[in-house]
Amino acid sequence: MSDEAQQKATSPQRGHASESAEQTVTGAGGEADAGSEPRNGGGHAHDPFFETAARLLAEGRETFRFDTFGDEAFWSGTLGLDRAIARVSPKQALAVGLKVDVDALPAGLVAALRAGKVDLDDPAVTRRLLRANAVVGVTGLFKPSSGIPQIGIQCALCHSTVDDSFAPGIGHRLDGWANRDLNVGAIIALAPNLQPIASLLHITVDQLKVVLASWGPGKFDAVVFLDGKAFRPDGKSAATLLPAAFGLAGVPLHTYTGWGSVTYWNAFVANLIMHGKGNFFDPRLDNAAKFPIAAENRFGHITIAEDEDRITPKLPALHVYQLALAAPRPPAGSFDPALAELGHRLFNGKARCATCHHQHRTEPGWNMHTGDEIGIDDFAARRSPDEHYRTTPLPGLWTHMKGGFYHDGRFATLLDVVNHYDTVMKLGLTAQDKTALVEYLKSI
Ligand code: HEC
Ligand code: HEC
Repeated sequence: MSDEAQQKATSPQRGHASESAEQTVTGAGGEADAGSEPRNGGGHAHDPFFETAARLLAEGRETFRFDTFGDEAFWSGTLGLDRAIARVSPKQALAVGLKVDVDALPAGLVAALRAGKVDLDDPAVTRRLLRANAVVGVTGLFKPSSGIPQIGIQCALCHSTVDDSFAPGIGHRLDGWANRDLNVGAIIALAPNLQPIASLLHITVDQLKVVLASWGPGKFDAVVFLDGKAFRPDGKSAATLLPAAFGLAGVPLHTYTGWGSVTYWNAFVANLIMHGKGNFFDPRLDNAAKFPIAAENRFGHITIAEDEDRITPKLPALHVYQLALAAPRPPAGSFDPALAELGHRLFNGKARCATCHHQHRTEPGWNMHTGDEIGIDDFAARRSPDEHYRTTPLPGLWTHMKGGFYHDGRFATLLDVVNHYDTVMKLGLTAQDKTALVEYLKSI
């Protein structure tokens, strides 16, 4: 990132990120290279290569955690979310799944919280949290004259949570973890002016509220803003689960339906979903039959002057950071090692899982399948350009046991997933095979 672009970055607490370096970052998104020391024995403090890598990682983390890309112009300026947040108590904020970064809290506030002397029903406390930049994924941009901040959102809103070490919803940041408590629809519904979104979708504000309420915790529908399809044919919400954003290195295509690479999707989200200020190009969105809303609004041709683009200069470092976020290992005792070992053999053998989930991840190559191949309908697949489902990489499954599995959470438990494959692939798994596979899935 150029210095100029860096200065333009909205990062009220520059430097804060590097102070709390709890998250392990490895070179290859995972366990594979653990223990392989660089040839120079790790003494690379002054090696320009490692210095560059370290700088990119630090910049990328800053962007992931704190950059609004100027999207406060939409969330506050257009929707008026700042006015709503001014009335929200910390208790209400936690109830819609927002998380608080304990490392960002001033010592005085931590002490007062410990002593039970903070009124969690007082919206003024929410403003204090925002002022401390402690609400994960939400930035309050305060002007000196005003007590109410402009509100902008970040990647961390949906793709980070906290470890609850201080209290439920309050703890150290866990970058890349899916926030399955977050009720994005309920948060958007707080905004006083929903008319712009309703107009975009050609529905009334009341209809929009029904759509937003249909998502529920841990879900969001990125594609409804392109195709206007809020519900599946069976009447259920068309939203997808918030996925993990770690362990993505080496995965060819991303999102549940393989829209593109990590950096493709980053640009997509920052421009079209977060409403940051940038450039975006995707002529696939000109297909008016498939993406009527996107085609009408020329979402595949978002242009802004180069020197006002606050997204594109951030993409390289953001990409590097995301690829370096390894899937976290499950805690000891959270699975049965002997059964997991047996499950591993089944996964690679009799259960045929590894024919798609190679190395328990995804296919090296074109990692896409039809609904038929995995025994499900193709509604969500057909909302994407390639009309297929992408083989989900499985490391870190244990971090998102809430909300279900598959793109829409249709399977409540891992055993339900295994039973599904057993039926559609006629695997003939015994009850013990199934238990073993589940223990293996919990162990990766
Ligand atoms: C409002 C919630 C939300 C925000 C904010 C958000 N995302 Fe996502 N993200 C999602 C959802 C939902 C999906 C799944 C979309 C799909 O497959 O249809 C997703 C998918 C992804 C994926 C693909 C993961 C995989 O398994 O392939 C990546 C990478 C990603 N997001 C990165 C980002 C980055 C970087 C940002 C910030 C620029 C960001 N997201 C902001 C909700 C969000
Ligand atoms: C034909 C290729 C294919 C085979 C074989 C396959 N999978 Fe999958 N798997 C997929 C695809 C594609 C998805 C994404 C489905 C979706 O999101 O709707 C997926 C999703 C999953 C998920 C859900 C991940 C999540 O985060 O929601 C689990 C768990 C899983 N597979 C486990 C297995 C197991 C266990 C086996 C063997 C019994 C197996 N898979 C066999 C392609 C395959």
